[in-house]
Amino acid sequence: MSNALVLNASPRGRQSNSQVLAGAFCRGMTAAGVEVRTLFLTDYTVEPCRGCLSCWGPTPKQCVIHDDMAYLRKEMGHAEYLILAFPLYVDSMPGPLKTFFDRSIADGEPWFEQDSEGETRHVEALKAPKLVILSNCGYPEQSHFEAVRFLFQRIARNFHTDVVAEVYKSQGGILGSSNQELQSVKATYLDRVAAAGRALVENGGIPEELQRTLAEPFLPKDQYIAAVTRSFQALQRQV
Ligand SMILES: Cc1cc2nc3c(=O)[nH]c(=O)nc-3n(C[C@H](O)[C@H](O)[C@H](O)COP(=O)(O)O)c2cc1C
Repeated sequence: MSNALVLNASPRGRQSNSQVLAGAFCRGMTAAGVEVRTLFLTDYTVEPCRGCLSCWGPTPKQCVIHDDMAYLRKEMGHAEYLILAFPLYVDSMPGPLKTFFDRSIADGEPWFEQDSEGETRHVEALKAPKLVILSNCGYPEQSHFEAVRFLFQRIARNFHTDVVAEVYKSQGGILGSSNQELQSVKATYLDRVAAAGRALVENGGIPEELQRTLAEPFLPKDQYIAAVTRSFQALQRQV
């Protein structure tokens, strides 16, 4: 049976908008016969890389830091798909997820090779899982994901793998909202996300038309901005 590992990298963990997205995507993958497991990065201690390069020298593939990274690396090694679910933070991924990738270089070899386009990278040591990127953000436009989209293409290339599916959702706060007026638009969207998960397993990717509908905003921009402004005003009044 094919299997997938979700790594939820939101500091909000189980309560996160990222998890709403991941839950729907995995619903579709499960329906297509994939066994899915979820790990929350907040449950683990992963210290920053010290840059000592011991893992490429005196202690090959062994990091000098003894924390939960060894467990996460082992779990990742068993998965066919690694599903990264995270909020956009300052146009990028949250720090702990970046730390996870920094620490992952211990899986590689120090030796250089040329890839098919003549660009230098490290020789592959372990087969990295196929990457699925699920991210959400607070701004209303999809353009905010441009940097992350490019970044993960580069990361996949360095780790000798591919990004096989991406779902990006602006207006992400709506994913976790309990506002009754938004439930129907949200349910329609999450069913489409589940269809994307299923399509990945059954057809190898998300069909273009589905990708187009997934990128549609929940609300018109002006309406969304007004709602977010009201909600922050209410929060500040509570203080
Ligand atoms: C430190 C921080 C940085 C953020 N940076 C961005 C950003 O660059 N662009 C954006 O649209 N939203 C940004 N956001 C908003 C989050 O992406 C948004 O609240 C998201 O829905 C949180 O998802 P989660 O519940 O999965 O953590 C930021 C939030 C925080 C706390």
